[in-house]
Amino acid sequence: MKQKGYFGIDGLDRVIPQGMEYGSQIMVHGDTGVGKTVLAGEFLKEGLLCGDTCIYIACDEPPAVMRSNLRDFRVGVQAYEEADRLLLVDAYEEEESEERHFIANQYSLEKFSVLERMLLDRCPGRRLRLVVDSLSTLLIPFNQEEILEFHRNRLKQLRKRGILTLDVFVDGVLDQRVMTIASHFYNVNIRMKFSTSEARPERLLQVGKVKSGKFDAVPRRFRISPVFGIVFAPDVEV
Ligand SMILES: Nc1ncnc2c1ncn2[C@@H]1O[C@H](COP(=O)(O)OP(=O)(O)O)[C@@H](O)[C@H]1O
Ligand SMILES: [Mg+2]
Repeated sequence: MKQKGYFGIDGLDRVIPQGMEYGSQIMVHGDTGVGKTVLAGEFLKEGLLCGDTCIYIACDEPPAVMRSNLRDFRVGVQAYEEADRLLLVDAYEEEESEERHFIANQYSLEKFSVLERMLLDRCPGRRLRLVVDSLSTLLIPFNQEEILEFHRNRLKQLRKRGILTLDVFVDGVLDQRVMTIASHFYNVNIRMKFSTSEARPERLLQVGKVKSGKFDAVPRRFRISPVFGIVFAPDVEV
């Protein structure tokens, strides 16, 4: 049987009980501060635990933030980095970066693609997970056609290589039309948002599977724990 990948988040994996094939692509989008990076961290942790090599491209914050998140999740980051099982890539500080891996000049999509490919080529024959946090930051300066062209080519390559990919998008950064079209390139769609109905805002997560036609659109309430990450409320439906 083909190996499947999971998020490592209880309430979320139950929504996709059959798991995701390597080569699948996940889009995570939502408001700032809602928990996208926390979710990405848990996805990386799960990858490390099941033997994947994990690549995290940090575009919005220095990679040190993810390093610290993973430590909070009780991941032995240093050992994984030394073993080249975890590659934290700085696409934030550019030339000033003191990281071992960095992507400078993130304002060229072509250059980004070349550098991303080079990173992936460093790990031949390994089962890979790739996270870009966030891709929307990278795409700001480009027009719709350029974005969609970049997207199509990139995701096709990643699928061919069998890489389990999770791309983060911040809501409100890119044109809604572009986001909608782009979302159709992904196998799984995760939307995270704050509820607006109550005085105390709550966090909600919705899962959509575009390709299989099955769609679980029920918003699930969750909170963020410093040690366990995303924790769903017991009465998941709201
Ligand atoms: N390691 C952590 N422990 C506890 N809370 C955290 C941790 N990391 C982030 N948070 C909190 O979780 C929320 C979501 O953070 P984050 O995932 O970085 O948001 P996003 O990436 O969606 O902008 C923030 O309110 C932040 O304060
Ligand atoms: Mg973030």
